[in-house]
Amino acid sequence: MAGHFIRYEGVHKSFGDKAVLRGVDLAIGRGETVVVLGGSGTGKSVLIKHTIGLHSPDSGRVFVDDVEIQEFDEEQLIETRKKVGMLFQAGALFDSMTVEDNVAYALREHTDRSDEEIRDRVREVLGLVELEDVEDLMPASLSGGMRKRVALARAIALAPRAILYDEPTTGLDPITANAINRLIRNLQKRLGVTSIVVTHDIHSAFTVGDRIAFLYEGRILFDGTVEEARRTTEPRLKNFLEGGGYG
Ligand SMILES: Nc1ncnc2c1ncn2[C@@H]1O[C@H](COP(=O)(O)OP(=O)(O)OP(=O)(O)O)[C@@H](O)[C@H]1O
Ligand SMILES: [Mg+2]
Repeated sequence: MAGHFIRYEGVHKSFGDKAVLRGVDLAIGRGETVVVLGGSGTGKSVLIKHTIGLHSPDSGRVFVDDVEIQEFDEEQLIETRKKVGMLFQAGALFDSMTVEDNVAYALREHTDRSDEEIRDRVREVLGLVELEDVEDLMPASLSGGMRKRVALARAIALAPRAILYDEPTTGLDPITANAINRLIRNLQKRLGVTSIVVTHDIHSAFTVGDRIAFLYEGRILFDGTVEEARRTTEPRLKNFLEGGGYG
């Protein structure tokens, strides 16, 4: 289907005898934002890492931009990772590098831009995440919300066509969390990117999502619009939503 930028087809993944993903089918349209909800340890992070080859399925297929990626070698995966940026759950900044070096990392690795062009691009993406004059700071001196923004700036530096957000608002106060939610919406609008947002935060899910997918016992138990999710009679999703998620 040409309308989809990311698609998982019958994805199975186990670690040892623990079956985490048991046949995930999910497709994300171009320019769409899909929120993946699910309890802790249900495999949300594992699922989205399949999109950039950080996990590969035991069986099933993963498509990015209509190409199957599960057999890709490292070199081909680099091309996929240029198209799909990821905001990791733990932020994962390089602690011994300045903000500038963190954000510039992929630009230096994967482009032949000059130092000046890279500096301009770093300033530009920091602007997109609403940060200014932070280039020389070390990650340790940043607040949690700022770290998330810097990590996001790094994820979008190469102008990806899709962004994977793993728990972008977890651990942030409600005001900072809302600012991150607005940012996700803005990036979608301004850059037209396809997004997957993994979250425990129900408010965030309803704010940023076009669609909700609920991962339960290794499969997508519910897949529908935000409005359909609000009115759902699926007891396990209802229970999850009414419990306010967790975390
Ligand atoms: N590299 C790995 N090796 C072995 N087990 C793993 C690995 N990565 C994940 N797992 C296991 O897979 C399961 C799903 O993990 P995952 O991190 O995807 O959960 P999650 O839904 O993202 O949870 P949370 O909401 O707490 O972040 C967990 O039981 C985890 O221990
Ligand atoms: Mg996770």
